[in-house]
Amino acid sequence: MTIDTILDKATIIPVIEIADAGVAGDLARAFLDGGLEVIELTMRTPAALDALAAIKKAAPSLITGMGTVLNEADYKASVDHGADFIVSPGITLPLLSFAETQSVPILPGIATASEAMTAMDHGFTALKFFPAEVAGGAPYIKALGGPLKSLRFCPTGGVSPDNAKDYLSLPNVVCAGGSWIATRQMIDGHKWDEITATSKAAVALYKEIKG
Ligand code: 3PG
Repeated sequence: MTIDTILDKATIIPVIEIADAGVAGDLARAFLDGGLEVIELTMRTPAALDALAAIKKAAPSLITGMGTVLNEADYKASVDHGADFIVSPGITLPLLSFAETQSVPILPGIATASEAMTAMDHGFTALKFFPAEVAGGAPYIKALGGPLKSLRFCPTGGVSPDNAKDYLSLPNVVCAGGSWIATRQMIDGHKWDEITATSKAAVALYKEIKG
């Protein structure tokens, strides 16, 4: 699957942190019940790789990315554990060069026009804009759309139900990501019904703008 296909299926991507891989199946089902097709797990806990494998086993249809991938070793381990795509908070030239050789695609993170141009040089035109709200927010992505017309963005970092519409209204924003759909507290507290409800609300919010 290409990153463009994945982003077309995405609405708002929950960015999640899992401390206990044992909850992965219940969590995956909560997202599917809420109508989400694409999620991003982050490599920020020792359980992250096991959790990824457990999600893919329990819910193979849930398109699951591994985020917070910083280098080739993280990328390889994520692919080995079943990642459908990779997300990085920023770019390095070694990471982009490695990504170019991989069939599991990357959504590279950028925060400036120069970084976006570096990613474009390596053939990447679907990019994460991170950390979206503090890096300039929706007006910044709108401004990037002037000179960098071929790029499509997924903003994450500070995106919330209050400002998501500002981002999703832009033609160069294809989806968005945020941790509010399933916070660490909600996951640790096994709040599956609550996560299904926030997932449904996120899908509805996306559809209100993008149709
Ligand atoms: C992150 O990398 O932490 C994500 O972008 C989520 O950010 P948020 O917690 O501000 O939604």
